[in-house]
Amino acid sequence: MPKASLTQAAAALARRLDRLARVSEERGVTTRTFMSPAMRRANALVGRFMKAAGLSVRVDPVGNLIGRTRAPARGAKTLLMGSHLDTVRDAGRFDGALGVLLPIAALEVARGRGIVLPFAVEVLGFSEEEGVRFSSGYLGSKGYAGRLGKLDLRLRDSRGITVREVLAKSNRGRFSPPAPAHSRGELIGYLEVHIEQGPVLEALGLAAGVVSAIAGQTRARVAFLGKAGHAGTTPMALRRDALAGAAEFILAAEALARARPPLVTTVGRIEARPGTANVIAGAAELSLDVRHPVDAQRLAACAGLRKAGRLIAVRRDLGFSMEVTQDNGAVSCSRELSSILAGIVRRHEGRCVALASGAGHDGVIISSLAPVAMLFVRCRGGLSHSPGESVSRGDLKAALRIVVDFLARLASRHAK
Ligand code: HGY
Ligand code: MN
Ligand code: MN
Repeated sequence: MPKASLTQAAAALARRLDRLARVSEERGVTTRTFMSPAMRRANALVGRFMKAAGLSVRVDPVGNLIGRTRAPARGAKTLLMGSHLDTVRDAGRFDGALGVLLPIAALEVARGRGIVLPFAVEVLGFSEEEGVRFSSGYLGSKGYAGRLGKLDLRLRDSRGITVREVLAKSNRGRFSPPAPAHSRGELIGYLEVHIEQGPVLEALGLAAGVVSAIAGQTRARVAFLGKAGHAGTTPMALRRDALAGAAEFILAAEALARARPPLVTTVGRIEARPGTANVIAGAAELSLDVRHPVDAQRLAACAGLRKAGRLIAVRRDLGFSMEVTQDNGAVSCSRELSSILAGIVRRHEGRCVALASGAGHDGVIISSLAPVAMLFVRCRGGLSHSPGESVSRGDLKAALRIVVDFLARLASRHAK
């Protein structure tokens, strides 16, 4: 393996990120959703990058891409590094992808420098973190961590297909939720590299920072049921307008969050039926996303919103339902791994800030398997979930240098 300089490795990483961003199920934009043909093509492409780095490659029954270095000795522990390969609709090039491709590049640089790792490394490309298809995130890492439950398998997509049916189809007709890929004792930890998706590092002039904790997250499907009617002949007093009820609920959710920072509530999707200009909506379904660093506050906000929905429904003579499709508590990152990472960031950046993540990450799920550390990388304007996502070449190189040093540091700590 020729000794690639960090500059060359960062340039090669940027090219791979660009290539991966072109793997999409929608023309002209980057969209990859759970178990789609685009996800299979992404696994094939990233699998080739993994093989070029000397990893053995497999795809597990939940569609996760797993690249593994040869274990140096029987019984050697494993370090996990990774993130997700699925994306939101019309996504950027870095959310998820950076956390899968950068560790591959770091292993190539470490090998080129003759750094011998006394542990195995698994690079993980999770098949579903964003929750686009089934309104519930983390299905990939849940499968890897043995946490895929009955509720997850019963979730239905917009065509009424369940998770279980999708997974059975991709596993020759049979699927049962896999056991955890590792026992806790086999693992050194899990490192996820991810763009910050926020403005702090840019404001502080830092290329990277360490994550202290990942916010808890609840997602729900909210529905209002009224009566469709003629827009021109139905007096206002006789209407049971589901969309108007949903609109009132959306404003109530926004008002609650504005009153209780750092609570955030988001309605990102709404669907009215029959969805015709001259028909009063008889039904309205919307997504609800509630997050807070403190679980009790998040759960109290969800209870408050359920109550508000019911009151709106009573007042407007509507039906109301709120089905929770995802509910994850906040997770603190490992102090030990984070302090190793912070020491390396400090050495290269002059200082290291610890940031709480408002975004969810697969580390929330993997924390049941192993201690979790996250490295945040500066992104321009903090922009994410947008094609405008951007990480400078210099910051790619800085993050790469940090992860290579992290591997070297762990190697010296775990040398026999
Ligand atoms: O929604 C999130 O926080 C993450 O991007 N899936
Ligand atoms: Mn995301
Ligand atoms: Mn992400």
